[in-house]
This record gives sequence, structure tokens and C-alpha cells, in this order.
Amino acid sequence: MSAMTMKDEFVADSAAADRSAAFFSVRDVHAYYGESYIVQGISFEIRKGEILALLGRNGAGKTSTLRTIARTGTPQLKSGEIWIEGKPVHQMKPHEASRTGIQLVPEDRRIIQGLTVEENLALAQVAPGHGWPLERIYEHFPRLAERRRQDGVTLSGGEQQMLAIARALARDIKLLLLDEPYEGLAPVIVQEIEGILNAIKPLGITTIIVEQNAVAALRLSDRAVILDTGEVAFTGSAKEVLDNADLRHEYLAI
Ligand SMILES: Nc1ncnc2c1ncn2[C@@H]1O[C@H](COP(=O)(O)OP(=O)(O)O)[C@@H](O)[C@H]1O
Ligand SMILES: [Mg+2]
Repeated sequence: MSAMTMKDEFVADSAAADRSAAFFSVRDVHAYYGESYIVQGISFEIRKGEILALLGRNGAGKTSTLRTIARTGTPQLKSGEIWIEGKPVHQMKPHEASRTGIQLVPEDRRIIQGLTVEENLALAQVAPGHGWPLERIYEHFPRLAERRRQDGVTLSGGEQQMLAIARALARDIKLLLLDEPYEGLAPVIVQEIEGILNAIKPLGITTIIVEQNAVAALRLSDRAVILDTGEVAFTGSAKEVLDNADLRHEYLAI
């Protein structure tokens, strides 16, 4: 083996070790809707068990970033790398990402009409891999336990959001992606969901939360990434954002 090859292998090995150091990482990711260039070179990392707030004004590219990470197919990933526990999500086919434990809870929640709460959960459990059993879910979501026989779409907005999160937990989950979970919810319900997210955190669930309610997201989060027109404008601790009025004015309008 030539010295050059050995060096190359060493570089490749240390790069792999570096990637696996972070539980999840996104490296210079670019994604398009057709010709529209929207996700313009985003990079960030998350350690296992962390909660990361992904913030930015309306249209900054938060939803597009979550959809790219979850490999929903749109926007289309053009280049860059997405790694979860050393697995190259960027090399997978769209929709294969869920098998690595990446679960997206979209803004519209997608509760299945005509199915009870329990049937919605049971359907999620049919997915490959082992998620949380029903008893464990009901322990964390007592409101869902009370309403287990009720049609999912007749739940209140807050309860539907809880069901959407519970459904993600019913699948084989490692990384929970929440798109505006607090939208349209009363502060008391926001606090209830916050309590649930805090309780599942020590159970090994890593979370990315996108929220217009930046203050609520930040008080829950360890770290924050702020997006601006499809690029990362800031990466740091959640506390840094809460303490920095200029940053909040410039990118979050709060
Ligand atoms: N399906 C789509 N086709 C084309 N452009 C889109 C599509 N969805 C979103 N966009 C555009 O991508 C940009 C980012 O949108 P989005 O990711 O939804 O932002 P955010 O979630 O931060 O409000 C916006 O300019 C939006 O108009
Ligand atoms: Mg959005």
C-alpha cells in the first residue's frame, strides 16, 4: 500500500469517526422544488437526546428543511449529506429515512378520518421496527387514553397534536421532527405538550422543533439554528437566542 493511499484511508476513517460523533448531522444540504432552489447549503449537528429549535421567519425554509431531512421526496435533495448514527440518509431512497428512525410530524397532523385514537396508533405500529407499545404511550398521553375509542378527527387541536406525536412514537423512532406543533393552541395546551416533550427527552428521543412561537420552542430546547432565506444565519445555544435581543429582532421579529 502506498503512503498516499494510507493517508487517504486515514482521512476517510477520521471523517467517518467525526460524523458518528454527532448523533445526527446535516452537511451542506441543497434541495429544490422543481427549478426553485430553496434549501441553500444547510449544515448543523445534534447530539443524542438534545432538543434543537429550528427557527426563522415565515418562508425561511424551515418546513423545507424538515421535509428534506425526512426524505419526503419534495423538495428534492440535490447535494449534501444527512447522517443518523453513522447511516447515510442522503443515499437512501425517499421514504426510506423513516426506517432509520426519522419521524416527521407535519404541520397538518394528518390524523386519519374514520379511525379511533387507538386505531390511528395501531396503524402506526404496523410500520417496520418496534415503536412504543400502547401502554407506554397512554402513560405519557393520559388524554389519549381517555379518548382511545373516539374518532381521531373529533379531538381538539391540542389532542390531535398529541395524537400526531404519539403516532410518531408508535413507530421506530430516534429523531422526532415537529413542524409548528403549537400552532393554534392555547398556552395551557402548549405547556401540556411541552411537558410531554420534556418527559420523553430522557427516554432517548432527539427532537427538532420548528415553531413560530420561538420563545416557547427556545425554553424547551438545548440549542437553536436560525434560518434565513434557506441558509443558516445562526447556530448556538437556545439561551444565547433568548438573551440576544438584536438576533431575535433581526431573524425572528420578536
Ligand atoms: N411546494 C413548493 N414549491 C415551490 N416552492 C415552495 C414549495 N413549498 C415552499 N416553497 C417555497 O420555499 C420557501 C420556504 O418555504 P418553507 O420551507 O415552507 O418555509 P417556512 O417553513 O420557514 O415558513 C418559500 O419561499 C416557499 O414559497
Ligand atoms: Mg413552515
